[in-house]
Amino acid sequence: MGKILVLYDTLTACTGQMAEYVAEGAKSVPGTSVRLLSVEDPDAVEAVLWADGLAVGTPTNLGGVSWKMKKFWDDFAAENWDRCDGKFGMVFSSVGSAGGGAELACMSMQIVLQNFGWLTTGVTDYVDRLHSAHYGGWVVKKPRNDYDRAVCRRTGMRLAEWVAVFVDGDSSMHPLLRSKPSAFDSRKTPAENKPDPMLAEKLSPSADTEKQLMKTPGPRCFLHVTIQVPEEAEEKFLPLIKELTVWTLREVGCITYSFARDAENPRLFYVHEQYINDTALTEHHMKSEYFNRIVPQFEALGCKTENVVKSFAAY
Ligand SMILES: Cc1cc2nc3c(=O)[nH]c(=O)nc-3n(C[C@H](O)[C@H](O)[C@H](O)COP(=O)(O)O)c2cc1C
Repeated sequence: MGKILVLYDTLTACTGQMAEYVAEGAKSVPGTSVRLLSVEDPDAVEAVLWADGLAVGTPTNLGGVSWKMKKFWDDFAAENWDRCDGKFGMVFSSVGSAGGGAELACMSMQIVLQNFGWLTTGVTDYVDRLHSAHYGGWVVKKPRNDYDRAVCRRTGMRLAEWVAVFVDGDSSMHPLLRSKPSAFDSRKTPAENKPDPMLAEKLSPSADTEKQLMKTPGPRCFLHVTIQVPEEAEEKFLPLIKELTVWTLREVGCITYSFARDAENPRLFYVHEQYINDTALTEHHMKSEYFNRIVPQFEALGCKTENVVKSFAAY
């Protein structure tokens, strides 16, 4: 069971209100136990030591952490400085205005946590096209609209997910499998962006897949493909090959998959692929949903595969 503490300081209840939504987000991850405490609560020190994941909210004060929050950590350090290594941390802040230093306050808060050994991170998702929490969630004053609330909830949810994956060992809670919008369309909901089964395999390869690949311990397999792309097809071709690259790199058996344009002829593209063995190429990559969906589209666009060279590692 993941244990999350949302700890906040607040003068005019803005960060306090953010904290409630952060806690709500953490609770949305099944099996997570969440506590929400002010930094002035007498149980705060005990709760910090209890938690596997800590979301800390500070108002942005003079571009940094509020004095009460800073004092809490100064005092905490005296007896507990070496008791928190390896816990997960996220931060959030309420600020007087956009541009008033919220990200600086978030980074200052992260630095304090890192000093204790917390593993801090941000949230890479966009909650919509214009709002994200890359360095910690922040909102101007109180969270007053759907985007503000989503930023707070996403911060808490992501923290709880990392705790579920890395503390509780539940890889099905990995954000790429459950909550992070697809890299290809960040406006889609998680439900619309069904994770590819091969991605699930990459994050937690099933024993069957590994056995199957290892059963044929072959030499590493290389593939060099040359593709001629008509100028008018390039706009549609590039996102497709990019999608194919992203999925392929997540395959258990893929070592490299890169895509390049010829230095002199802009119509020529090369794909350099390397797999742990032939089975990884022929039985996994070439039978994947995305390979069979995307590659036929190249032909329909008028792209011509000029040359395919398959080879095996010589030593
Ligand atoms: C001492 C102090 C310093 C502040 N410094 C900043 C600042 O540097 N930039 C800013 O945009 N707002 C600043 N503010 C405004 C607060 O960040 C803002 O009102 C925030 O929403 C307060 O959150 P709270 O109600 O959780 O305390 C400051 C407020 C105080 C009291």
